[in-house]
Amino acid sequence: MRQVPNVHDAEPIPEAARAAIEELLQSGDLFRYTAPQDAPVSLLEEEFASLLGAKYALAVSSCSAALFLSLKALGLPRDARVLIPGFTFAAVPSAVAHADCKPVLCEVGENYRIDMGDFAAKLKGVQAVIISHMRGHTSDMDAIMELCDARGIPVVEDAAHSLGTTWGGRNIGTIGKVGCFSFQSYKMVNSGEGGILITDDADLIARAVIMSGAYEHNWKKHKGPKGQNSPELELAFARWQNQVPLYNLRLSNLSAAVIRPQLPKLAQRVLDGRRNHDYVAERLNASSFIDVPAPLPPEVRAPDSIQFNLVGLSDEETRTFAAAAEARGVKVQVFGMSTDNARAFWNWQFIEDLPELPQTRAMLMRACDVRLPVRLTREELDVITEILLEAMEETTARAAA
Ligand SMILES: Cc1ncc(COP(=O)(O)O)c(C=O)c1O
Repeated sequence: MRQVPNVHDAEPIPEAARAAIEELLQSGDLFRYTAPQDAPVSLLEEEFASLLGAKYALAVSSCSAALFLSLKALGLPRDARVLIPGFTFAAVPSAVAHADCKPVLCEVGENYRIDMGDFAAKLKGVQAVIISHMRGHTSDMDAIMELCDARGIPVVEDAAHSLGTTWGGRNIGTIGKVGCFSFQSYKMVNSGEGGILITDDADLIARAVIMSGAYEHNWKKHKGPKGQNSPELELAFARWQNQVPLYNLRLSNLSAAVIRPQLPKLAQRVLDGRRNHDYVAERLNASSFIDVPAPLPPEVRAPDSIQFNLVGLSDEETRTFAAAAEARGVKVQVFGMSTDNARAFWNWQFIEDLPELPQTRAMLMRACDVRLPVRLTREELDVITEILLEAMEETTARAAA
């Protein structure tokens, strides 16, 4: 009998994390600001900024916290309109609501990327934009930056699923004014919970650092690139001392100890994930009922899951397909079909005057999501692919009958 691979487990945590955690447990030094220097959270910030090629990084409790702090650090007034894609995780409109701003939703196409016509049409009156690279699918960042730069609108990149993705050779998360990443489970780097934001803007990072909970003079433990003192940063901290509220969204040293040994593994994880994804994509695309959208030309992806659209299937056939795959051991999430799905915009009912997005809705009703952890072998990928193709055969044969 064929063995269905375990896609539930996340990537293994490197052994080195154990020693680092043991050391922290011995000393009890779990708070990032206790040690005078070299706390695991500070080292993580230095390493992450250098890995991505940004001047500054701030590690926080989640990507949601990073998104919220980014909006607050931009100094947006209450009720500012923030444009977000209609296909993202509920955490994104939630961060906008938390920052006392109003989410404006734009349409997303069948290729899971922002519909640039609708984006341009909705920019009027918008004071900030969050680009969610949902499931690591990169929208047209050249067009987005051109439109936003021309209007002086700051762009926040939600790169929760894009660690390791590049656009025209630039790291995702470094193209907008600020980039936000997640270390929550099922991300390229996993500590259960955690997030980080990166930017080159000294005032933005100074405000975000203080608001994240660097009370009194704890900001002195935040340095410039390569852990060096930065006069530009010190001046920015002096400007913002006591001027902004403290939201206390700090990361614990324990989480940083789990994250740091994973960073050197990132490049290999990205290569493995892309190779696996592209192999499965090619095999699935041989079916005329399945379409795995191609990346945009400047985009080099870092996937740990695969998304594909069911072509020409009814609602009932879509349900049959998902059930047939599940019966064989592969869980397929159809974003728009599972009850209360947090990625279906119609479930974000906390948004006042929630708009209808017909194009995004149609996409979500046929878009499937399957985990492909980067550690899977070719044989395991074959099993998953064969199950998906068999499920499609069963569905279309039933429809024909
Ligand atoms: C696209 C997207 N953005 C933001 C987040 C928020 O991340 P976190 O759970 O770290 O707050 C998530 C969560 O998975 C997400 O899927």
